[in-house]
Amino acid sequence: MTFQLTIRRQAPDRGAYWQTFELEIDPSLTILDALIQIKGYYDGSLSFRKNCRNTICGSCAMTINGRSALACQQSIRAELANSPVPNQIAIAPLGNLPVLKDLVVDMSAFWQKLSAVNPYVSTAARQVPEREFLQSPSDRAKLNASGNCILCGACYGACNAVEVNPDFVGPHALAKAARLVADTRDSETDQRLEQYNTASSGVWGCTRCFNCNTVCPVGVQPLDRISEIKQAILARSTTATRNLDRPLRHRQVLLELVKEGGWVDERQFGLRVVGNHFRDLQGVVSLAPLGWRLLRRGKFPLRFEKSAGQAQIQAVITALQQRQPSSKMGVHREGFTPS
Ligand code: SF4
Ligand code: SF4
Ligand code: FES
Repeated sequence: MTFQLTIRRQAPDRGAYWQTFELEIDPSLTILDALIQIKGYYDGSLSFRKNCRNTICGSCAMTINGRSALACQQSIRAELANSPVPNQIAIAPLGNLPVLKDLVVDMSAFWQKLSAVNPYVSTAARQVPEREFLQSPSDRAKLNASGNCILCGACYGACNAVEVNPDFVGPHALAKAARLVADTRDSETDQRLEQYNTASSGVWGCTRCFNCNTVCPVGVQPLDRISEIKQAILARSTTATRNLDRPLRHRQVLLELVKEGGWVDERQFGLRVVGNHFRDLQGVVSLAPLGWRLLRRGKFPLRFEKSAGQAQIQAVITALQQRQPSSKMGVHREGFTPS
């Protein structure tokens, strides 16, 4: 069949532009096959990465019809069926990474952020007296999902948090971090959880947009792995540390306010999170300029109306809390930065 492949092209000496190729090709083949045909028969200067051609090496991740995907995994027929433009497929480089040429991006930040989470089993754990470190099948099974990662970068390219916050280490790095937290051979779990428990670079920097889960080609489900780290952090916190951590307080206050009124009373939100329920006077004072601006522009509600369904919402939250009595707030420590 004949169809059009429109490719976002770019070179150091030329700005970005779209170029369209008309191809005669079997639609059961992959997007990568189409790119190889263009490079072989139409334009040898087209640049893209590939190696295994079989969803193993992770090198062919790019943006296909607006979403991150592996070119060797997507069939032409399926992409045409979902394409917003009839008989045309749009290909662009991965998002959130600088373009070197055409579909080849500079992955340096991706690797540096992976390295920032210390992605190796601790050295101490390798000093075992016997020949091997035994794990039970159930302990090993906890590593399966994150162990599937082929470091393709699809999740990183689609991550909303990375797009607005360059400090955020990214879903790939936190999926790897979750693997180390769950690994029974590792002896640095406490230090790791302390390191990942940060508002900007760590797990609390994730906006829970679900993009990483949607695009991951091998089922790592990075958001689920991030949630596992959060649960481990929450499970470690104590009453003594409860009120020190702003990211965790943010989560707790949201829940409190929804339980109290059915939705979030924004007037209370800042005072309880930033002002720590009036315990942090500096935090309370820091809210004054914002409060004044809102008041002047008529955006500071003087009354708060509870939601009509508040009683039902309260019942649902109470029932869930009774099922999870160990959920607590935790402590926030200093962050980490990519090397
Ligand atoms: S988590 Fe999935 S999408 Fe992200 S780098 Fe690993 S394999 Fe790719
Ligand atoms: S869920 Fe979190 S980590 Fe995943 S893409 Fe969205 S912001 Fe990024
Ligand atoms: S070429 Fe290896 S994953 Fe696509």
